[in-house]
Amino acid sequence: MGRRVYVPDDVSAIAAGADRVAKALARRPDLTVVRTSSRGAFFLEPLVEADGPEGRLAWPNAAPKDAARIAAGAGGMPVAKIPFLVRQTRFTFARAGLAEPLSVEDYEAGGGFRGLRRALEIAPQAIVDELKTSGLRGRGGAAFPAGVKWQTTRDAPAEQKYVVANADEGDPGTYSDRMVMEGEPYRLLEGMAICARAVGASRGHIYCRSEYPHAIRKLRAAIARAAESSFLGRRILGSDLTFQVEVFVGAGAYICGAEAALLESLEGKRGMVRFKPPFPAVQGLHQQPTVVNNVITFATVPDILERGGAWHASIGTEKSKGTMPLQLAGAIRQSGLVEVPFGVTLESVLHDFGGGLPRGSRFKAVQVGGPLGSIFPEKLLKTPICFDAFTEAGGILGHGGIVVFDRDTDMVELARHFMQFTADESCGKCTPCRVGSTRSREILEQVLAGTATAEDIETIRDLSETMKATSLCALGGLAPYPVLTALEHFPKEFTQRLRK
Ligand SMILES: Cc1cc2nc3c(=O)[nH]c(=O)nc-3n(C[C@H](O)[C@H](O)[C@H](O)COP(=O)(O)O)c2cc1C
Ligand code: SF4
Repeated sequence: MGRRVYVPDDVSAIAAGADRVAKALARRPDLTVVRTSSRGAFFLEPLVEADGPEGRLAWPNAAPKDAARIAAGAGGMPVAKIPFLVRQTRFTFARAGLAEPLSVEDYEAGGGFRGLRRALEIAPQAIVDELKTSGLRGRGGAAFPAGVKWQTTRDAPAEQKYVVANADEGDPGTYSDRMVMEGEPYRLLEGMAICARAVGASRGHIYCRSEYPHAIRKLRAAIARAAESSFLGRRILGSDLTFQVEVFVGAGAYICGAEAALLESLEGKRGMVRFKPPFPAVQGLHQQPTVVNNVITFATVPDILERGGAWHASIGTEKSKGTMPLQLAGAIRQSGLVEVPFGVTLESVLHDFGGGLPRGSRFKAVQVGGPLGSIFPEKLLKTPICFDAFTEAGGILGHGGIVVFDRDTDMVELARHFMQFTADESCGKCTPCRVGSTRSREILEQVLAGTATAEDIETIRDLSETMKATSLCALGGLAPYPVLTALEHFPKEFTQRLRK
């Protein structure tokens, strides 16, 4: 067996050429190639690593021609000296890039399943109490306190309860759920099993978007291996907990990420939003009490059980506890996953981690929180990464997607693009969203064509207020924000195109 070299098999690394590099390295008899997860520094992929005297050495942007150099250990830089990685505070992604994603042994050796073991030792209510103490808020977008949701399902009397992981990850530019599912699937399964024990559920579903075939394959393999090792299935680790998990592949609609539409889809129906109440925690899948949480929410739970809720509550800001995995994309030098404690400013994330804009580009705006997120100009970059600070600034943190736009970006076209997105993805159940998004998109097309008047802009504002106030779900309720904030911060781009 030759010297071990580590090559990520995350789909972003593969897109950057990791498979070709792995093949070239595997041809050498003096090397053994181990496929690991990715550290999330996508601008450095394929990032090949090998064990060095003081920790791992890395060869960023490796190519097949580098095989001999890597085999000789020449030119590798210590991973511990990559600023993008060492400046982060990683808990949920602490082991990203270190282990073989499907190895149960690797996962356990890195501290995996300790949270589940503790959960099996304490009373189910104590698990819920630990979660409440932790202050964990959902990472899927709505930021609802996870402990309160779990308590509601726990208190709802039913023969059958369900745990559902929302892995639809529909926001363009986000990938933290995918990285967990591809890189450390046992972390998600462990979080779900802890939840099952807390609320009294015996069945779980992972609703994964069809665009993630690698994640789907790995999740299915991980479920089978976890069951073989008694971490899932009947009488988990000899306890009285039985918990079976299945992967359900979504049909590719943004609205199916909204929990009510997700549950409809999971029941085999068209993904349409349901009226609330009743909330899914009381009447969810097949009308039974169901916890629906985002993948990152579940993936945060094992650490909370292992280290205690107070530990988690000691990190972050007053009302946003713990860390947030942010996902950088767009006009930024260093794109990738950045896990930081809540409270770090948006500016620091873009500069200290993102490395600023590529040479020759100038900053214009940033959108946080996916296609429904507000457009922030430079003056709002001091906003801390924190659910409430973002709400106060008129935006959303959402699932932590951050897309940077440079000076060449046409804000009217951007506003049109996002309204088109809503018009395409609206489930059509309520009029304000169905008609409002289509009409707003048409007006924005007229602005681009130079045929709109100032009155038309007022109509967009009117429609937006109606959508915000009367839409049945957050798709219609938040869709006006990108347009309204583009209008607020870049008014000239709209007015100079109007018909006089
Ligand atoms: C239009 C729309 C799309 C959504 N997409 C997602 C998604 O892709 N993933 C997700 O976890 N939550 C998504 N949500 C939020 C879910 O409805 C729900 O709040 C979340 O799954 C609850 O889990 P959490 O509390 O752990 O965040 C979406 C909501 C709306 C209104
Ligand atoms: S707001 Fe849009 S997506 Fe939500 S229920 Fe109404 S039509 Fe459907």
